[in-house]
Amino acid sequence: MDVEIIQTKDGSHTLYSRQFDEIYHSRNGAVAESQHIFVRNGLGACPGNVINVFEVGFGTGLNALLCWEYAESKNIRINYHSIELYPVSDKLIGQINYPDLVGHKEKFQQLHAAKWNETVTLSENFTLHKINGSVLEMLFPTSSINVIFFDAFSPEKQSELWTIEVFTKMYDILALGGILVTYCSKSYVRKNMQQAGFQIEKLPGPHGKRDMVRARKNL
Ligand SMILES: C[S@@+](CC[C@H](N)C(=O)[O-])C[C@H]1O[C@@H](n2cnc3c(N)ncnc32)[C@H](O)[C@@H]1O
Repeated sequence: MDVEIIQTKDGSHTLYSRQFDEIYHSRNGAVAESQHIFVRNGLGACPGNVINVFEVGFGTGLNALLCWEYAESKNIRINYHSIELYPVSDKLIGQINYPDLVGHKEKFQQLHAAKWNETVTLSENFTLHKINGSVLEMLFPTSSINVIFFDAFSPEKQSELWTIEVFTKMYDILALGGILVTYCSKSYVRKNMQQAGFQIEKLPGPHGKRDMVRARKNL
């Protein structure tokens, strides 16, 4: 994919995709957004010492890096699954400034060096399974995911990913009580989630954005 690095307001980089005319994170801060939506309101809302994560859109690997660090700091186990249709080139990954800002350069490199389509144990607390493919064609025969990071491009740019059908698929892979978190709180997106069976909660968004959504598969 034709992408270039741009800087967000907290100093962290993100990518701009010319193909989709879309950026990978909030312009108000990529690291701040990831910490708020996916780590604090996603992982932070999951009980237990073993958390199974499923991410839509591995992208730069920022969410994965912050989650790995979270697993080490809390001494819990995270099994991280992520699907990505357009892997980012090694050249660009080498220029992204996340290791300068949040540290853990070696971890960042390991996340990207990990083979696709197999489970890799990166530490006692963290396994990674990157799937190279489309979430639209994904076959994922499990209902053991505790939290989904729904981090696709926006519905304006990829409406086919924000449908009742896709949210039903997401609902099916969640364990009972599992959650889905996303930055998008548009009303038709929330309606599609509800149609798929989710209970919706609107939460304050990261700095500069009004809302985010946490959707739950009730017990
Ligand atoms: C908003 S960005 C994700 C940012 C990423 N989570 C990160 O931390 O850098 C959306 C991602 O979804 C990927 N994507 C687009 N279409 C997809 C599809 N059909 N299936 C899986 N991933 C897709 C894009 O290539 C991009 O990496």
